[in-house]
Amino acid sequence: MIGFDQSVGMVELARARLGDRATLRVHDLAQPLDWIDDATVDAIVLALVIHHLDDRVAALGELRRVLRPGGHLVLSTHHPLADWRRLGGSYFAIEPVEEVWQGDWDVRYWRQPLTASCAEFFEAGFLIEKVVEPRPGPELAAFFPQTYEKLSERPGFIMFRLVRPS
Ligand SMILES: C[S@@+](CC[C@H](N)C(=O)[O-])C[C@H]1O[C@@H](n2cnc3c(N)ncnc32)[C@H](O)[C@@H]1O
Repeated sequence: MIGFDQSVGMVELARARLGDRATLRVHDLAQPLDWIDDATVDAIVLALVIHHLDDRVAALGELRRVLRPGGHLVLSTHHPLADWRRLGGSYFAIEPVEEVWQGDWDVRYWRQPLTASCAEFFEAGFLIEKVVEPRPGPELAAFFPQTYEKLSERPGFIMFRLVRPS
């Protein structure tokens, strides 16, 4: 198993959790994955990262390159309707958003409509096999009833299973 993140802290957390079971390193997806050979990876999980990247097609292209033909990329991102509801303006806007979360956490990410994300997947050489708009499990209701109510009615995130065609 290989894992990476641009954050040293995130890689250290993963190392503490996984130990020798994974090869982990700091890597910025703005750079080529030149330490991974072509078509050598069976499957990739990219959880809540893609919307932080300025050149998403280039990064997706690198992920496609290292995947073996028929291999899958499973990725999650903000649901575009959630961003639109929160930020307002045009649903069709494609632009970076800068926010401060939890008092002192500077966050930068891209908002864009669903069409634009799908076009980027295709441009990078992927086909979409499955789309999931997850809803919370009932166990969330006991701990965070308001969040449970909200996410039961409005999507927060969206997930895609993409395939590198054979
Ligand atoms: C919302 S967190 C998700 C963390 C983790 N993947 C998860 O699902 O719990 C976003 C992560 O994307 C990472 N990230 C942002 N830009 C990146 C880049 N250019 N290359 C690699 N990782 C990046 C951040 O360091 C951060 O760990």
